[in-house]
Amino acid sequence: MQQLANRHVLLGVTGGIAAYKSADLVRRLAEAGAQVRVMMTRAATEFVSALTFQALSGNPVHTELLDPRAEAGMGHIELARWADLIVVAPASADTIARLVHGRADDLLTAVCLASDAARAMAPAMNRLMWANPVTQDNVAALAARGWAIWGPGEGDQACGETGPGRMLEPADITARAAQIFASELFTGQRLVITAGPTREALDPVRYLSNHSSGKMGFALAREAVAAGAQVTLVTGPVHLASPERVTRVDVTSAGEMHDAVLQRAGDCDVFIATAAVVDYRPASPAAHKIKKDRDTMTVELVRNPDILAEVAALEHPPFTVGFAAETYAVERYAKAKLDAKNLNMIAANQVGGADSAFDADDNRLQVYWPGGYASIERASKNKVARQLLELIAEQLHKD
Ligand SMILES: Cc1cc2nc3c(=O)[nH]c(=O)nc-3n(C[C@H](O)[C@H](O)[C@H](O)COP(=O)(O)O)c2cc1C
Repeated sequence: MQQLANRHVLLGVTGGIAAYKSADLVRRLAEAGAQVRVMMTRAATEFVSALTFQALSGNPVHTELLDPRAEAGMGHIELARWADLIVVAPASADTIARLVHGRADDLLTAVCLASDAARAMAPAMNRLMWANPVTQDNVAALAARGWAIWGPGEGDQACGETGPGRMLEPADITARAAQIFASELFTGQRLVITAGPTREALDPVRYLSNHSSGKMGFALAREAVAAGAQVTLVTGPVHLASPERVTRVDVTSAGEMHDAVLQRAGDCDVFIATAAVVDYRPASPAAHKIKKDRDTMTVELVRNPDILAEVAALEHPPFTVGFAAETYAVERYAKAKLDAKNLNMIAANQVGGADSAFDADDNRLQVYWPGGYASIERASKNKVARQLLELIAEQLHKD
């Protein structure tokens, strides 16, 4: 099973003999479905070449902090933001010490400092380096700050000694990485999530639609499954692969999405309306392709059903979460929609302009519920989805 499907795992490799095992780790993480990027310290490149990691991960390897060319591509802040999980393996005593002090004098430490992703390390070093109270204190300090410390294991060491200090095996590290994403937030609960745009036919070959990519809804579906939910994803036309263990229902028009959702909404615990449903559809789509024989043309539009409002107005509604995509006055419109439609929560994002959420890989949200507000900072849609689900679970389980 691809337990890490579509997760963004940023592997940090430091200068130790065990760096050769990280090549296998990249392969295993990728086999588990993760998208893997690798950053290396300068010392690490003395042990294994960046080319090896580039070939195995299928991505350029990041080694330099102060490199104008690297910063013009995926710079350290983008890399920090991209990661859902940072795994430093092997983690050298030196890097551990620098992380403790918040140093940012190379790419790896700067990225760790600038990221709010989950962080884990697999220390690997000579047994006496590991047993040294300085290292022990350093590791304890990082653990207290939320780092997961995996290992080290015990056994024969490259230096000829025997004892604790070996990097855990790549298979073990991969299994632990998958575990990071598992939670029990929605165990046994049924979620219906809508995603993508809808298409409203003008004639048999043309339609009205919008730029929604479906990425936010798909990320929510993936994260909800990881949090133990049974998920039905009702999606308009998108170019995305189905997340694992999700029941996918493909629809085209707002009318079809309406029917698919209302068949299921009475029977679910949480409904999240991420889809950018087209508000108006042509009143009478032409039966045949419209010809280019007029200088102007007028199309009468009629309002589509309001799926979100209908679900919220059910006699026994699920916990109902709307999305508001606005080009301006995001807060005002979002709060108005929360009240007018009697929603449990609304997640607002800006669309249009440089900051647009449409078709982007990352997003930020302002989330409102009756009497409460939270801001989710810009991050990958996976990470944003996870944080939104935490807020939903908090409100859902409040009573
Ligand atoms: C042959 C050799 C093997 C080494 N193996 C390790 C190791 O397994 N663990 C470790 O913490 N340091 C090890 N070191 C020391 C590190 O390479 C050194 O502390 C370096 O500064 C680490 O830099 P980095 O943390 O930026 O990668 C080794 C050094 C040499 C010369």
